[in-house]
Amino acid sequence: MKQIPVIILGAGGVGQALLQQIVDGRSRAAERNRIQFNVVAVADRRSMTWEPQGMTDLQIISVIEAKRLGLPANPGQLPLPHLPGERPSNLDIIDFALAAGLEKAIIVDVTAESGMEPVYDRALEKGYGIVMANKKALAGPWSSAFKYFNHLQIRHESTVGGGQPVIATLRTLLDTHDPIRQIEGQLSGTLGFICGQLDRGVPFSQAVAEAKAKGFTEPDPREDLGGQDVMRKVMILGRMSGWPLEASDITVESLYPVELADLSVPKFMKAVAGLDEAMKERVDAAAAEGKVLRYVAELQEGQGTVGLKAISVASPLANLKYISFRTDRYDDEPLLIGGKGAGVEMTAAGVLGDMIDLVRETR
Ligand SMILES: NC(=O)c1ccc[n+]([C@@H]2O[C@H](COP(=O)([O-])OP(=O)(O)OC[C@H]3O[C@@H](n4cnc5c(N)ncnc54)[C@H](OP(=O)(O)O)[C@@H]3O)[C@@H](O)[C@H]2O)c1
Repeated sequence: MKQIPVIILGAGGVGQALLQQIVDGRSRAAERNRIQFNVVAVADRRSMTWEPQGMTDLQIISVIEAKRLGLPANPGQLPLPHLPGERPSNLDIIDFALAAGLEKAIIVDVTAESGMEPVYDRALEKGYGIVMANKKALAGPWSSAFKYFNHLQIRHESTVGGGQPVIATLRTLLDTHDPIRQIEGQLSGTLGFICGQLDRGVPFSQAVAEAKAKGFTEPDPREDLGGQDVMRKVMILGRMSGWPLEASDITVESLYPVELADLSVPKFMKAVAGLDEAMKERVDAAAAEGKVLRYVAELQEGQGTVGLKAISVASPLANLKYISFRTDRYDDEPLLIGGKGAGVEMTAAGVLGDMIDLVRETR
């Protein structure tokens, strides 16, 4: 049995679902893959549980329960001795693991933080693997991001398409020398939901409010409506495909005007109603031509656009969850990947699949 130490950074929706899946999938991982994942650390913003022998399933469940109640991720543990009252930094956590003699550990980044690069670099330098659901470092400036692409010790399936095998498919196309010509798709479950509501005649502001109430958006819905998250996904797919893209190569349409950028969230939610009329005109104009509005990402020849487009209802793009690759081989008919992608369960499953893959391929 391969004993694999695992350090999980982030205990939000995806982190909690992942912890649960590690517990639920223990016997399957042992039977099918001869792997035992030993969760040695779980950290959130302000706290951490540290258990170099590997947490028991009971301890893992108590972390999940504590986080669901809005409590820190270290139920029952005293502050760690070396920095009383403070949570060790993520770099410190890697040093703890090294000092405890843990080898070939996997660092899982299920935060949404920028600035994780030093943590990744230290981990890689020490022979640890990394699984990311966090897109930020992969979509940062190419000069710092390039080293994380095609790295034997890095997996990041869940950065695009949640749990759908988008990255794995792209890897296979590239490995079998089928150059990517065009990528198209709807890369945001949140904006897909909002577009679906617009199809049904729901006003834009109400669709945004519903998406927020259902927990589909970030706490500040501008994070989704601004298109930056979709842009990051396009950058990741494009960079994997061989284009060293920068953010300036992608034209992004924001679904709110710059005047609303600095309002508080409650004021923004009220002000969105002012966009309803203009959005309804776009929906009606599209409908008059047998089309629907979709927030679509397109990438070709190293240039991309991300924004609302009127799409024929007969087009596969009118389907709300879909990505297509046009390649040398798939030239007349693109390769399509569709189905439920977003959501914490699917995303966590993508992360767990990456962890298993990393062990199978490198440990
Ligand atoms: N949700 C989805 O469906 C989905 C789909 C695809 C990809 N993703 C990506 O997956 C990641 C996690 O998403 P999520 O929905 O789980 O986010 P979330 O609920 O906001 O959770 C983020 C977690 O990260 C923790 N955190 C923040 N800064 C940290 C730090 N410096 N070190 C360690 N932990 C830190 C937070 O701590 P506190 O609990 O203390 O705040 C929180 O537990 C994001 O990058 C997201 O883009 C999510």
